[in-house]
Amino acid sequence: MRILSVNTHHPDKKYAPHFSSCVKIYNPKRVTNLDIFAKDRVRTTSGPFRQDHDWDNLLRYIFWNFEGERKVNISSLACADGSEPLSYALYLYDKTPKNYYAKFRITASDIDPEMVKVAKSGRINLSDEDFKNIEKYIKNPHRYFNDLDKPVKITNNIDSDRYSYKIDSDVHSLIQFKKSDILTEVKKLTPEEFYVLNIKNVFPYLKENYINEVLEIMAKKLKSGSIFVYGKFDLLVPNFKNRLLDLGFFEPKQSECFIQKI
Ligand SMILES: C[S@@+](CC[C@H](N)C(=O)[O-])C[C@H]1O[C@@H](n2cnc3c(N)ncnc32)[C@H](O)[C@@H]1O
Repeated sequence: MRILSVNTHHPDKKYAPHFSSCVKIYNPKRVTNLDIFAKDRVRTTSGPFRQDHDWDNLLRYIFWNFEGERKVNISSLACADGSEPLSYALYLYDKTPKNYYAKFRITASDIDPEMVKVAKSGRINLSDEDFKNIEKYIKNPHRYFNDLDKPVKITNNIDSDRYSYKIDSDVHSLIQFKKSDILTEVKKLTPEEFYVLNIKNVFPYLKENYINEVLEIMAKKLKSGSIFVYGKFDLLVPNFKNRLLDLGFFEPKQSECFIQKI
């Protein structure tokens, strides 16, 4: 069956992703817990293998960087419907043997309980365009997505006109999801352990003092060699990259939206 792509109109012309597994928009003033963190209307837009980076390049760097390490945490904060941790899990599962990918512990969280429920459900809404994106990295991705059904319901989902799929349970079980906010999670980082810390495409929604606190704590807690992965949208925050460089990160030559702790 051919699945029609959904042509979403994004009023924010500066940032218009043309793929997405979910697009929920909410106003923080009507969501009490977000009101203290968020300054603007928040979108949950996400999608597997989002085009912030070439995922082959990113994962190759991660494999090279952590070669010889026995345990690496991949932590995806503000993960929306789970598309982002799913991209890591699928890549690892598809391309590496179990005794290799077992060293990566993938955890994911979001502040929005509805998003966490969707992410935990093991189903995901995908369009034709999402599949094209996944196919760039995973051959024949339909092997991992079956049981086509009506879309997973997401309140105010402006892309509701699509289908949902059951994610291969071996892949989905590699990820542990929970509801939490970014600041709480960065405070809990273990300084003795290595991380690939993903906080992508969320900073422009957040209040300045919240951003500062997150970046400062993260810089203090991340062990030298750990990697911080951000999104293209985050570069809309003034001086985003320079702030990270000032806080003790460097940009590897191969870097596309990731930076490393010195
Ligand atoms: C645009 S989505 C980004 C999803 C994913 N990281 C990606 O790049 O595809 C932004 C997500 O951030 C979440 N969010 C907003 N403020 C947050 C906070 N303070 N802590 C955790 N999640 C937050 C929203 O609920 C939403 O799911």
